[in-house]
Amino acid sequence: MGSSPDRPIDGAASPPAAPDLAHAQQRVARLAQLYRFLSDVNQTLIRVHDPGELFDAIAQVALRHGNYQAAVIVLREGTDGIRVAVAAGPAAELVSQISPTLPGTAPGQGMTEAALRSGRLAVLRDIPAAPHLVRWRAPLIAAGFQAGAAVPFTEGGAPVGALLVFSSRPDAFDDEEQALLREVGDDIGMALVHLGAVGRLRESEQRLARLSRVVEQTAEAVIMTDPDGTITYVNPAFERITGYSAAEAIGRNPRLLKSGNQSTETYRGLWDRITAGESWSGTFVNRKKDGSHYTSDVVISPIRGPDGRITALVGLQRDVTRERELQDQLRQAQKMEAVGQLTGGVAHDFNNLLNVVLANGALIESTGLLRPELEPYLEDIQAAARRGSEMIRKLLAFSRREQLTRRAVNPVMLIGDVLRTLRLTLPASITCELDAPVLVPEVDADTGAMEQMLINLATNARDAMPRGGTLRVSVYPEPFTAGLEAPEVEIAVHDSGEGMDEGVRARMFEPFFTTKPAGRGTGLGMAMVYGLMQQHGGTVRVESTPGVGSTVRLRFRRAVGQRGPDAKRVAPPKIRGGSETILLVEDEEALRRAATRILERFGYRVLAARDGVEALELFRTHRDAVALVVSDVVMPRMGGEELLAALHRERPGLPVFLATGYTQTDLSGPAQAASGVWFIQKPWTADDLLGRVREVLDQPQLS
Ligand SMILES: Nc1ncnc2c1ncn2[C@@H]1O[C@H](COP(=O)(O)OP(=O)(O)OP(=O)(O)O)[C@@H](O)[C@H]1O
Ligand SMILES: [Mg+2]
Repeated sequence: MGSSPDRPIDGAASPPAAPDLAHAQQRVARLAQLYRFLSDVNQTLIRVHDPGELFDAIAQVALRHGNYQAAVIVLREGTDGIRVAVAAGPAAELVSQISPTLPGTAPGQGMTEAALRSGRLAVLRDIPAAPHLVRWRAPLIAAGFQAGAAVPFTEGGAPVGALLVFSSRPDAFDDEEQALLREVGDDIGMALVHLGAVGRLRESEQRLARLSRVVEQTAEAVIMTDPDGTITYVNPAFERITGYSAAEAIGRNPRLLKSGNQSTETYRGLWDRITAGESWSGTFVNRKKDGSHYTSDVVISPIRGPDGRITALVGLQRDVTRERELQDQLRQAQKMEAVGQLTGGVAHDFNNLLNVVLANGALIESTGLLRPELEPYLEDIQAAARRGSEMIRKLLAFSRREQLTRRAVNPVMLIGDVLRTLRLTLPASITCELDAPVLVPEVDADTGAMEQMLINLATNARDAMPRGGTLRVSVYPEPFTAGLEAPEVEIAVHDSGEGMDEGVRARMFEPFFTTKPAGRGTGLGMAMVYGLMQQHGGTVRVESTPGVGSTVRLRFRRAVGQRGPDAKRVAPPKIRGGSETILLVEDEEALRRAATRILERFGYRVLAARDGVEALELFRTHRDAVALVVSDVVMPRMGGEELLAALHRERPGLPVFLATGYTQTDLSGPAQAASGVWFIQKPWTADDLLGRVREVLDQPQLS
């Protein structure tokens, strides 16, 4: 473009200054206004924070105090592009349409382009006469614009943009105004440089702010101390985890978290490392403000100043209490599993051995042959074997080898039944309560197992309340939410007893763990509850506070879908008696007496004989009444087999039981009935005898 600076591009010369006073006054007023404009621009520059705000403010000030009709700020974009950053004033829209590409001007002739290329102020003094304005002359004139100026501003020496101002005064942009506008341009350039620096500063501030937000929001507790260990900063996580507020912690020593669980060696090792300038990491059990403990993974690092000296220590603590608990739970579960396997195997074999002891004890008893002075011994044997089986049953339950029959059970009815029974055995100083909503869903459970568990929990509660208290069983059903797995039903057994400390609570499910005196507890109750709940697919949790009480919570799955078989328990087959006449032949007097008593107690009429001869006589007297004969085999005078033959001669098919110590197998079905002879194992039990007798009497062939 032109060679002389600031040459008006329309080539028109500045009009000579009017000599009259009025004109001089006008000029002074105009200059005062322009200085005001400049000073406003300067103030604006101090205030603003970013270029966008700067451009907005400059444009506004130009309109208000510069007395211009439009103020537009354009910025260079790429090599040739121009972008409108701000357009202000009544005709701003029009101007901003022109400016980006200046389409209405011949290339290289517009004032904006001139200013941006040269970096010098360009003035368009007489718009109506400007030769290069082709398309935009009319709209500009219609908007009332007489003259315009493009004030370039630079950043780092290169023009980066321009302030375009338009005036309705034909005499606008004289030399003084141009000089002032140049200063405005310089100021904008300086402000941009300044803002760049400020921007960078702000960026680092923002980085710091981000960092501090991270520190403030992180889940890890952060503690900073000075080199002497006085706390200078703690973050919100610290406050949350420890319960100490920042105000309480700052100025104190991290010792305030000391639980006493760390050895002095640990602390010495820590300080050795830190004073050597290294980080220390480890696990601490710390103490919260409320006195409870928490486990945390800790990293402590020294921070060095520029001179290499330690200026601060930073500690990071991650609360791992929950993680550790889960690990412990897993370990505990694995241990229980292993113990379960072991006890399960032993218990199974032991159970068979104990059955033999018990069965034979019962057999000995049923013979009635035991000398009276030996009876207490037998009673002891049986009592011990029964206690043994009871233990074995719990062990089998613990190792999940109990046969369970699960069905839909109404827990409240079952608990009610159990509590009614328990009530009779609990001391009067213990109050029993059942707390359940009116409608409780059925649970998927084995009634027998549920009873056993409740009885055990109630027994534990009783033992925990030697001076009385409250035993409360509560039922909490979870609300049913469609689409979710079957919600659970919780049965909570609560006592107001002595409670347990952490050590006992942690071990209470272990088989044989008991705190009760020898002979009082076997330590199998909770082990059984544990195993049974696992087998039910449920859980058991215990909460306890020493001196306050304990709550054992059993969570059962809710029974869903089809109802199981009737929840009524299947009664064991009932022993039925009868009124028939039975001929009993037994030479041993005690046994004959016992058998007679048993049969008579169940309604039968008994004809008792000492041997075959006597039996035959009796039979002949009561021939029509005798429905069945039970005979010993080995007897004086006439034995069982001889008697059988004689009887069958008198009345073929008469049912005869031969009692023998040797195992004899009955024939089956009609052949048996036709043969008329059955065998009963000796020594029989009362149930055996009554059962077999009824069985034979009910054979259809006999009636
Ligand atoms: N409700 C409770 N309150 C206080 N301590 C309890 C309670 N329930 C269980 N315990 C503690 O847990 C231990 C183990 O209980 P568990 O029922 O397994 O065995 P036990 O009652 O000692 O013996 P068992 O039940 O075999 O007769 C108990 O000895 C007792 O220390
Ligand atoms: Mg118990």
